[in-house]
Amino acid sequence: MNYKEIVVDALYAALEGQLERSIIEDAIENPKSLALGDFAFPAFPLARIFKRAPQIIASEIASKVDQGNFDKVQAVGPYVNFFLDKKAFSNDVLHQILAEGSSYGDQDLGNNGNVTIDMSSPNIAKPISMGHLRSTVIGNSIAKILEKTNYHPIKINHLGDWGTQFGKLIEAYKLWGTEEEVKADPINKLLEYYVRFHKEDVEHPELDDEARAWFKKLEDGDPEAVRLWKWFRSESLKSFMKIYNKLGVEFDSFNGEAFYNDKMDEVVSLLEQKKLLQESRGAQIVDLSKYDLNPALIKKTDGATLYITRDLAAAIYRKRTYNFVQSLYVVGNEQTNHFKQLKAVLKELGEEWSDDIHHIPFGLITQGGKKLSTRAGRVILLDEVLDDAMTLAKKQIEEKNPDLKNKEKVAKQVGVGAVIFHDLKNERMNNFDFDLDEVVRFEGETGPYVQYTHARAMSILRKSEDKALSGGKEENYQLDDEESWEVLRLLESFSMIVKRAVKEYEPSVVAKYSLHLAKSFNKYYAHTKILKNDEQLTARLALAKSVASVLKESLRLLGVQAPEEM
Ligand code: ARG
Repeated sequence: MNYKEIVVDALYAALEGQLERSIIEDAIENPKSLALGDFAFPAFPLARIFKRAPQIIASEIASKVDQGNFDKVQAVGPYVNFFLDKKAFSNDVLHQILAEGSSYGDQDLGNNGNVTIDMSSPNIAKPISMGHLRSTVIGNSIAKILEKTNYHPIKINHLGDWGTQFGKLIEAYKLWGTEEEVKADPINKLLEYYVRFHKEDVEHPELDDEARAWFKKLEDGDPEAVRLWKWFRSESLKSFMKIYNKLGVEFDSFNGEAFYNDKMDEVVSLLEQKKLLQESRGAQIVDLSKYDLNPALIKKTDGATLYITRDLAAAIYRKRTYNFVQSLYVVGNEQTNHFKQLKAVLKELGEEWSDDIHHIPFGLITQGGKKLSTRAGRVILLDEVLDDAMTLAKKQIEEKNPDLKNKEKVAKQVGVGAVIFHDLKNERMNNFDFDLDEVVRFEGETGPYVQYTHARAMSILRKSEDKALSGGKEENYQLDDEESWEVLRLLESFSMIVKRAVKEYEPSVVAKYSLHLAKSFNKYYAHTKILKNDEQLTARLALAKSVASVLKESLRLLGVQAPEEM
């Protein structure tokens, strides 16, 4: 049911065809407060046409409108304010949510088209950083929102498993490492070598030459170099998988940078055929000055290929393999230029689908206002963050609900959910500071607050067992009190929220919505005795059940679980 349509109909009839429907529709506003009605129609534009004061026009329209479909239609100054028929609205919305359950809000925007999502993509032999966490959880949520709007997401982990850093790592390992050490604690040890390399090469620049030589060996298939590379890769991947399991994130592909080793020759010859390659101080570049971009460096002087060469091969491979309608790259905003170059080179190659490539950038996570950096050794280890979050969640649960069953499991859901939610509630381009205590609070704008509200609604429903809802059409869900109205309006707007989130690739739209809905339900709960045995009891239970259902679905879209009790 489109409630705005009802208002357009009423205005169109009252204006006796003097204004087109589309003009009326565009003019209708959402008042700032629900006290001013649910929709407002400003009369200013008509003042010029009718050459009368807008106040007078507004009150004339209000008196002409058929009031039958509304609780009230009122002229206030130059506006006509419409108050929807609360009982009818409430009955419609609640019946719809209970009937549709978790598919409430589903819509077909994508016609089942494939969308590749390049996400997470950490670098082998380094710990997963907070930046990779952002990419992982934003990408995962976008995938779920795409699915809800009938796109088919394909989640690709473009592992950083190739590049000059492996030369450095092999050199460092040869100098300072032992096999036993790495086996005992792979990620930390590899990181230690890497950090040490970057400390020592300041005074010993010859280390860089050695590292370069190792990388060259790796590219040429030297057995020792390849053996070490494979070993580092598999140890790293194991530790990444532990984190993905904790976060509940799965991938459709782990084709990383190395996967494109044998696919770059084709890219280079395509560029040659189209006469796009130019020589510049021994290197091969594509000039992008007409796009106002720096040239794309395709091949270095020593013949080594570069990050963008691999991304060109990957983009072409993905188009051929998945025939995507959109290809997304969830990568920090410091790589904006890289993705502009990628699109521009593909455009130069005549690939029209380069327009379907979208970089989905995001801001930095800082700590105490400082930028994190692997090289400086200033890293937050994601694995530890998740464990600490679970411990903190468990402490809070012990205090609040010491008798809870499955404490361990719930603490996991709350701790991990808190970290994910904290990331997603911010518009993705914002930078934000990471403070664990802040993240796991049960009050305020946090994941646990939304989860807690969901659990509260579920507990009300459990207590009402004897009055269980059937969901059948014969049940009357007509609420008309002021307290429930905001909750109902929010419930009704869910599908519009989902649509906005997918259009803007912005999970924060859903996260903010869930906070808003939770807050408004808690306000309702504070004012109203939901379980009071009167004629509106069924309707109030239907409201609680609908809120639980929509909160749970919102959290699911963010990749956060909703425990029944906490
Ligand atoms: N591994 C890169 C990094 O950590 C991110 C890769 C992003 N994906 C891509 N196709 N370039 O910075």
